[in-house]
Amino acid sequence: MNESNKTLGEFIIENQNDFKYSSGELSRIFNSIRLAAKVVSYKVNKAGLVDIVGAVGEKNIQGEDQQKLDVYANETFIQTLINREIVCGIASEENDDFITVGGVDNDHNNKYIVLIDPLDGSSNIDVNVSVGTIFSVYRRITPFGTPVTFEDFLQPGINQVAAGYVIYGTSTMLVYTTGHGVNGFTLNPAIGTFYLSHPNMKFPIDGTIYSVNEGNYIHFPQGVKDYIKYCQSEEEDRPYTSRYIGSLVSDIHRNMIKGGIYLYPTSFKASKGKLRLLYECNPMAFIVEQAGGKASDGFSRVMEILPTALHERTPFFCGSYNMVEKVEEFMYKVK
Ligand code: AHG
Ligand code: MN
Ligand code: MN
Ligand code: MN
Repeated sequence: MNESNKTLGEFIIENQNDFKYSSGELSRIFNSIRLAAKVVSYKVNKAGLVDIVGAVGEKNIQGEDQQKLDVYANETFIQTLINREIVCGIASEENDDFITVGGVDNDHNNKYIVLIDPLDGSSNIDVNVSVGTIFSVYRRITPFGTPVTFEDFLQPGINQVAAGYVIYGTSTMLVYTTGHGVNGFTLNPAIGTFYLSHPNMKFPIDGTIYSVNEGNYIHFPQGVKDYIKYCQSEEEDRPYTSRYIGSLVSDIHRNMIKGGIYLYPTSFKASKGKLRLLYECNPMAFIVEQAGGKASDGFSRVMEILPTALHERTPFFCGSYNMVEKVEEFMYKVK
């Protein structure tokens, strides 16, 4: 990172013309997310020193044990957005229902909704391994001046106007797209500023890393089993390297830099897989595609799925373009 590089704030202002719709509101959403990311980053870095590690003793709507940092990150991102009255609605992994934000004078005239996975990979917190945040932004489709409805949240991924993730790793990075490529910014924690460190990020067209929870192998569909055997066979540039952190953001971030594929298939236990379409798969798919990679449910493009529920799940295969094509080939063979 170089302090003479552009800051995230400068970059947002310079690239406002890339925004599909009103630039002011979207810039302010980015500013809020940037602020919340710094607050959460600070807290994540102190985990272990302060009483923030461990579970709260509650389950979220997905039946997962909520961690203290899940709750803290959720409140931080939501409050930062609500306090600035810049969105008309927010949905989160940690909230059963979406939140309606009235905006200035409760006029319901704000244009954007935000969906978030406030803390991704939260089972990694206790063991000091990278976690993340994922966000997705849509323009509302119901009329201005009325409260948002489910319709506004259940849009296909292709309607996203922006998406991004924050990775709280060896350093904290914010990576985002507004549909004009992908750019990554690294936080200098000493001065609290994100600098452009990874301009125009590109997924290598091919790769040699595959990332999947192989402990579930026995439950995977035959096409996935065949693909894993292909990754492990001794031919051409194979066997590939297996790398799995267990945090979607970190696994995809690594693969985007090095070249690789991430797989979370269906299993006999989870007929739609584990990952959530609206605030995990779609935003990551938008970034992956914008970086030249591919994101699929095994047979077709994730971003074209028509959602029917806020917390719905989908199988997810994403990464280097040719690798995702290959796994689809295996899936179709035994369909
Ligand atoms: P979250 O922590 O937001 O609930 O997401 C967990 C997800 C994702 O980050 C990760 O890739 C996946 O769960 C790991 O699941 P397994 O432990 O089943 O491999
Ligand atoms: Mn969770
Ligand atoms: Mn997650
Ligand atoms: Mn989460």
